Amino acid sequence: MKTAIILAAFGTRHKNAAVSLERIVGQVRQTYPEIPVRLAYTSRVIRGRMKKAGETVDSVGEALDALLQDGVTHVVIQSLHLIPGNEFHELVDLARQKTGNPGGFECVRVGSPLVADENDLTEVAEAIMAIADQDRKEKEAVLFMGHGTRHDNAVYYEALHDYFQQRDRTIHMGVMEHQEASSIDVFLERFKADGVTKVHLIPFLFGAGWHVAKDMIGDGEKSWKTRLEQAGIQCKPVLKGAGEYDRMVAIWLDHLADALSRLDRC
Ligand code: CO
Repeated sequence: MKTAIILAAFGTRHKNAAVSLERIVGQVRQTYPEIPVRLAYTSRVIRGRMKKAGETVDSVGEALDALLQDGVTHVVIQSLHLIPGNEFHELVDLARQKTGNPGGFECVRVGSPLVADENDLTEVAEAIMAIADQDRKEKEAVLFMGHGTRHDNAVYYEALHDYFQQRDRTIHMGVMEHQEASSIDVFLERFKADGVTKVHLIPFLFGAGWHVAKDMIGDGEKSWKTRLEQAGIQCKPVLKGAGEYDRMVAIWLDHLADALSRLDRC
């Protein structure tokens, strides 16, 4: 049995987001010094842009092919996504295709993204809430900015929001794309109704890259910062991705350990 790990991130070309990736790759290598670790990007768009700029990074398929060449028989593809959306389910399909064929791998498992299922939602929600600034004053709120998805698992963003609300009415989870009910418009109305004067804006994204620079704090009319300020609400942005917090990384590492423990039973 020759084992390897692929860390599958959405991908980024933004230097501020690279910190998150370097950190988790380093921690995984430190935890499993005897297992080869490869980083791969799931986003075709990002990989295409990198190619144009003369940079290269593997797709997960390419990383798997390289491992097969090295004689690896068992692989864990660890998802570094936040919720199990389309990108994650593509990994699950890929793992299934690559397992048990003649000349292929004996076993390929996929480690869950940060939010895995209802069972660990509490643990994850608590870890996310811990990021929120503890010494907030009255009339200050926290708004996390998630990506959003067309996938049915969009419900996880809403589930996190509901959990936050039960624990602390001033903490919210919004998304940028695809989910009207969790859009900035909805939260703007809520903040106005609550008389909120200042919002702590925090990315719920793996790294603080392009989406943070443009969609969260950008000068454009559509950025969340602009929208809030136009409504007379002050902003305090936090420019750190989820991959920069030990407690979050620990959850991804737990999911990796779990997937590794299931490798011998394909
Ligand atoms: Co995006």
